[in-house]
Amino acid sequence: MQEVRVQAPATVANVVCGFDCLGFALSEPFDEMIVRRTDAPGIRIINRDDFGVPTEPERNVAGVAAAAMLQSSGADFGLEIEITKHIKPGSGIGSSAASSAGAVVATNRLLGDRFSKTELVGFAMEGEHLASGSRHADNVAPCIFGGFTLVRSTDPLDVVTLEFPPLWATIIHPQIEIKTAEARAILPKDVPLKTATRQWGNVGSLVAGLAKGDYALIARSMEDFIVEPVRKLLIPKFDEVKAASLDAGALGGGISGSGPSIFMLSEDPTTAGRVEIAMSDVYSRTDIEFNMYISEITSSGARSI
Ligand code: HSE
Repeated sequence: MQEVRVQAPATVANVVCGFDCLGFALSEPFDEMIVRRTDAPGIRIINRDDFGVPTEPERNVAGVAAAAMLQSSGADFGLEIEITKHIKPGSGIGSSAASSAGAVVATNRLLGDRFSKTELVGFAMEGEHLASGSRHADNVAPCIFGGFTLVRSTDPLDVVTLEFPPLWATIIHPQIEIKTAEARAILPKDVPLKTATRQWGNVGSLVAGLAKGDYALIARSMEDFIVEPVRKLLIPKFDEVKAASLDAGALGGGISGSGPSIFMLSEDPTTAGRVEIAMSDVYSRTDIEFNMYISEITSSGARSI
């Protein structure tokens, strides 16, 4: 095999209470990549979009993720990685994760599917490390496995795929930039035991609610006492968007990854559409431009097409 085309979906990390642990994959938007085997060693990046992502392989998340995999496999060939991004960098819906995950899924195919999905997550985390200075896997795991995932541990890597009922995500992406590294730097370093207890109660009950298809339990569990109170200050109108979405019938939601996108989950597409109107009404009254997405949570992750 000389060439592989992949699609790598956007993802929502944290899912309110599960900072750095929980995440899910959307069906759209997604990035597209073509990865070609080259006789000459080394990696060449070609960008087919206007986002201005670096093309030096050591400064490109797809480049470092694929390089880690080539090195680990002892491959004697190089790669040309052609990237068409549709997920805007810095949007909070897993743009760097999609590039990293797409690159390793495609490279693995060129290597004869030598690595497991968990190993692919490990290589893709190199891209996340480059993008944010931290080795979190809560975007790359759902991007590679699809559906809803829980990262129990990153060292050693342990990814749990979760059962989940039909769910639709409505996402508003305000056109402001929040760098993940900066959104991580403002977080508290220590958490009082009482707060931690409330938080892990919610993580456990969210996972149980997903498994049982108990929408009321899912709704009650989407509460964050640690990260949201700090990060929401970076997102204009966050509280208003949340209140309007709940009024429109959303189960709950919050900051997508490190923001600025805000996501809301609904039981059905009709409610997700009402939530879209409620969210966009709030932002229409500001001078901030925004994009909206509605997507079912999909069970397919990054895949060759
Ligand atoms: N869990 C990460 C964070 C996701 O919230 O910083 C962002 O990539």
